[in-house]
Amino acid sequence: MAIIPVDLAGRGYEVRVERGLLARVAEECGPLLRKPRVPIVTDSNVCAAWGSAVEASLRAAGHEPRWHVLAPGEASKSWAQIAATTDWLLAQDVERGDHILALGGGVIGDLTGFAAAILKRGCGFIQLPTTLLAQVDSSVGGKTAINTPAGKNLIGAFHQPALVLADPDALDTLPLRELRAGYAEVVKYGLIDDPAFFAWCAANAAALLGGDAEARAYAIAHSVAAKARIVAADERETTGARALLNLGHTFGHALEAETGFGERLLHGEAVALGMVLAARYSARCGLMPVAEAETIAAHVAAAGLPVSLSGLGLQTTGTALTVHMLHDKKMDAGTLPFVLLRGIGRAFLARDVSLGDVAAFLDEAL
Ligand code: NAD
Ligand code: GLY
Repeated sequence: MAIIPVDLAGRGYEVRVERGLLARVAEECGPLLRKPRVPIVTDSNVCAAWGSAVEASLRAAGHEPRWHVLAPGEASKSWAQIAATTDWLLAQDVERGDHILALGGGVIGDLTGFAAAILKRGCGFIQLPTTLLAQVDSSVGGKTAINTPAGKNLIGAFHQPALVLADPDALDTLPLRELRAGYAEVVKYGLIDDPAFFAWCAANAAALLGGDAEARAYAIAHSVAAKARIVAADERETTGARALLNLGHTFGHALEAETGFGERLLHGEAVALGMVLAARYSARCGLMPVAEAETIAAHVAAAGLPVSLSGLGLQTTGTALTVHMLHDKKMDAGTLPFVLLRGIGRAFLARDVSLGDVAAFLDEAL
């Protein structure tokens, strides 16, 4: 088993990566589950695929699992569902020292984490991520949130889990499109500061996407280690280190907003195209060779992810896309920091990017 510590003073925890963790969840959580009753929040897809394995493990250890099953999809990250979930948790008599299990992808992790952050001013929770995106990114680092009509993830809290159990076997039931979308966040770590990992991705993406369990476990553990390092250095995104994790997200956010934050373009797909746009924009600014930006695009395309803005068939303009960027929560005193690249593995935060120039670049790409 890979055990990756997330070192945060007073709030540190482990991320464990191993096949079969979901089937022995009770054993792994041990004394964190201090009462017979165990509240679990999940969605109906995940419940159908993994509910019985989790239920069986908990029952064998003498627990009484209690399930709160939400509709799958981004729409569940809402005020209505946070109200319903916290009401349900109160009805289950959850106390501050208890731990709620969040079984699912980033939607369930973000919503359950936020519920845990506000329930009785903060109770415990354990992440059981079941998508690649959640295993390599969203379950680690304590960002929790819901969406509002004003935008995505605008209401939330930093609230760290007490434990994360990432079981690569969970990916066996994940639709291929979701798997690919999560893979974008894996490649991201190579692009940020780890060219050797980008090379590993280039050599192993097909195996990983094709079901190779060893490649999956390696990619998850390596990605989590990268994220844990960054979160330990800059938990609340104040020094700039954690902001590098937003590579591709500013362009991606605009595309998600334009396409309605839904099935048309998944979050990971938007990040994939966003990373390619960040690389091509960096090349256009003379920061990195065009050929290196195209190496990134070729790898992203080979993983079955979108690399062409014109391919989305959007009826929009570069200026309209930059207006979406202005509503990004990363806006800071009227400026929008962009993560750009000086090469593969050489990401940096640029605070002087002209939105007019970005709009012109996007018009060309459209
Ligand atoms: P998701 O949670 O919507 O899951 C994707 C789909 O896969 C859903 O339909 C779900 O029901 C299904 N599913 C999940 N696991 C499955 C499994 N093992 N087998 C079969 N089906 C399964 O999407 P996601 O991509 O995991 O997460 C996206 C969310 O994560 C967004 O809301 C995004 O804002 C958030 N996010 C948060 C952070 C963070 O740091 N907190 C980081 C990145 C993304
Ligand atoms: N996914 C970005 C972060 O956790 O900071």
